[in-house]
Amino acid sequence: MFFFPQLPAWLTALAPSTGRYLQSEKWIMDHCREKIQAIDRNYDESSEPSCFVEAYLQEQRLRQSSGGVGSFDNLQLVRTVLDLYLAGSETTATTLRWALLYCSFHPEYQEACHAEIAASIGLREVSMKDKRGLHKVQAFLDETQRIANLVPMSVEHRVSEAVELDGLPISPDSLVLPNLYSVHMDPELFSEPHEFKPDRFIDPETGTYKASEYLIPFSLGKRACLGETLARMELFIFFVTLLQKFRFEPTEDCRLRRDEILLGPDGVVRAPGDHSLVVHKRRL
Ligand code: HEM
Repeated sequence: MFFFPQLPAWLTALAPSTGRYLQSEKWIMDHCREKIQAIDRNYDESSEPSCFVEAYLQEQRLRQSSGGVGSFDNLQLVRTVLDLYLAGSETTATTLRWALLYCSFHPEYQEACHAEIAASIGLREVSMKDKRGLHKVQAFLDETQRIANLVPMSVEHRVSEAVELDGLPISPDSLVLPNLYSVHMDPELFSEPHEFKPDRFIDPETGTYKASEYLIPFSLGKRACLGETLARMELFIFFVTLLQKFRFEPTEDCRLRRDEILLGPDGVVRAPGDHSLVVHKRRL
């Protein structure tokens, strides 16, 4: 369906997974429509838009008054909101699942992150201002994103005009899949790439967090992830809050099926295999 969009819809709909996908898509689209209608009802056109939907509606009305909405129609609004929901929820939630799984399998790093959080912010609510002081947490999250390879082949792009890449001609209309996995797992860029080693993002001299330009989970270029800033904020706030309050441990089943869980099922988004964790409330 995604890779062969020219196939007739009735043919792709025959696949059971596509049927389920279309059903969920309809459910989310109806939900988006209701939310948009509620915003539309309460939106005061004379004030500054306070969200994406209000900004879109403002532009739509402006165009309406000067002849026609063009591509700013209602369907495009619903589909754009749907895109943001789909691209923004599964990705961040699954990265957090990976982070908690690696916490469980590596209690030494989990404890190091917790100790840093306890020393730096204690029990108060975390804010983005705390990020710069939490070196181990940043390194842990970076290593999670590297090894999880959440979107290993990024998103497919169509080549609009003939180009040459490293002497290789690429013709217009070719489908291109950037292989982010190959960068994250390149032993020349990240030694022992299959090992979970958050310390690779810590400067050995200073003991502080050191970002790597080769960590590219959000891809690169003009069409890189639009939600990167939001995703980074969500990952940091949720992860720190969870570690502040809980300790995570693998179940016996999880320990036994470790390799299978870390491999996960096939998919555009790489998720861990089904598993449960034991969650211990930390003493306040
Ligand atoms: C950890 C979380 C996330 C990861 C790893 C991730 C990764 C990616 C990747 C690899 C792409 C493809 C970029 C390309 O085409 O070259 C992408 C595109 C996109 N992402 Fe994310 N993403 C995440 C979270 C989010 C969030 C929170 C949102 C929105 C709220 C979002 C919205 C989008 C959109 C709209 C695109 C398409 C951008 C375009 O085509 O111009 N993503 N993301």
